[in-house]
Amino acid sequence: MARYSRIIGWGMYVPERVLTNDELSRMVDTSDEWIRTRTGIRERRIVDKPAETTATLAERAARAALDKAGIPPTALDMVIVSTSSPEHLFPATACIVQDAIGATNAGAYDLSAACSGFVYALAMAHGLIVSEQADTVMVIGAETLSRLVNWQDRNTCVLFGDGAGAVILQVSDTPGGVLATVLGSDGSGAHLLSLPAGGSRKPPSLETIRNGDHYIHMDGKAVFRFATRVMAEATREVVEKAGLSLEDIALIIPHQANIRIIESSVVRQLRFPWERVFVNLDRYGNTSTASIPIALTEAVEAGKLRPGDYAVLVGFGAGLTWAAALIQWGPEAPPVTWWQRMWWHVLWYRWSRLRSLYRRVRRRFFALYFRGREQVEQWTFTREPSPDGRGKDRTDQK
Ligand code: COA
Repeated sequence: MARYSRIIGWGMYVPERVLTNDELSRMVDTSDEWIRTRTGIRERRIVDKPAETTATLAERAARAALDKAGIPPTALDMVIVSTSSPEHLFPATACIVQDAIGATNAGAYDLSAACSGFVYALAMAHGLIVSEQADTVMVIGAETLSRLVNWQDRNTCVLFGDGAGAVILQVSDTPGGVLATVLGSDGSGAHLLSLPAGGSRKPPSLETIRNGDHYIHMDGKAVFRFATRVMAEATREVVEKAGLSLEDIALIIPHQANIRIIESSVVRQLRFPWERVFVNLDRYGNTSTASIPIALTEAVEAGKLRPGDYAVLVGFGAGLTWAAALIQWGPEAPPVTWWQRMWWHVLWYRWSRLRSLYRRVRRRFFALYFRGREQVEQWTFTREPSPDGRGKDRTDQK
């Protein structure tokens, strides 16, 4: 049987806190007019509570995608989280999400390809499915870049926002789903967009903090030139690879970085009609790897993609990287019933939290138990029997 990977669920989550351009203009030397005309962004969402993190945003998006797909978390074979703002260098944020949603049968790993990461992860999930290593894969793009930008640097802080989007890919014998992918990298431009410190090359120190090396650094103009070129090239390439032409494409969902990049690459270079390009960056800014799944979710909810439609997802980002995927939208799953939703939300997700807590407590208990046992053994071992039958402490024999 031929194996295809179809998108059966999608969902998104953005933090409640809205940060407008006017608010930003009170924080740095900028203006609503400059940001709107140079980027197209009007506002963005940012996390404003310590408990809101990349994993919690990812978890909310993952739950929405599971609701849409109408499958339980236990049906997942793999959870891939694409992010540039992971919870830690390790463990993977994906493991935290896997535990939180109770995907007890799934493996989990993070993928780092910056803003192109979601499309990279989609390609990896597709590969796992067609090579029979998995049947159902959750792909999440999630970011809290607001925690990594320098809020005094107007070159970067006006651009980024936080959020998460997720899709579920499942094996199918009906042609459709992910039809072609194009992935690219040019590491000679690695320095153009980076977070210099915090990794093994420049571990965090007082000096890196003093220099602001733990914040995002970017050469905006160079990234702009690169982006306008690769977005058009990658789109053309992926359409050709799928044996289609641009006229067949119902919708292009580009990475939501800057309206001028989208206009220059998709509309001017490809001569693609503006009405068939999905844009929501005015409300969310650049949410990096989360931008494409958030836009995909909103496009589907707005009825812009119908069963049988072809769509191109195309992005670029730090690395430098670029990625495009051509998908054929499939029939939607029947809506989830209220009792399924109740079962998952009220019982399964709560049970998952309890199970996780129980495992932590159990691990702690056994750690204490074994430590105690080791101490008793050490004590007994060091007290060898003496000829008079009384214990002789070996530690006295020095
Ligand atoms: N508010 C007001 N003025 C600003 C500003 C801001 N937030 N940021 C920069 N400026 C100023 C600059 O200092 C410069 O002033 P100068 O002429 O006196 O030196 C002027 O505006 C023009 O700056 P420039 O860098 O030429 O602007 P630009 O038109 O290239 O736009 C970006 C800047 C960052 C919006 C644009 O280059 C861009 O979008 N690049 C791609 C970035 C991106 O997508 N990154 C994420 C990749 S996933």
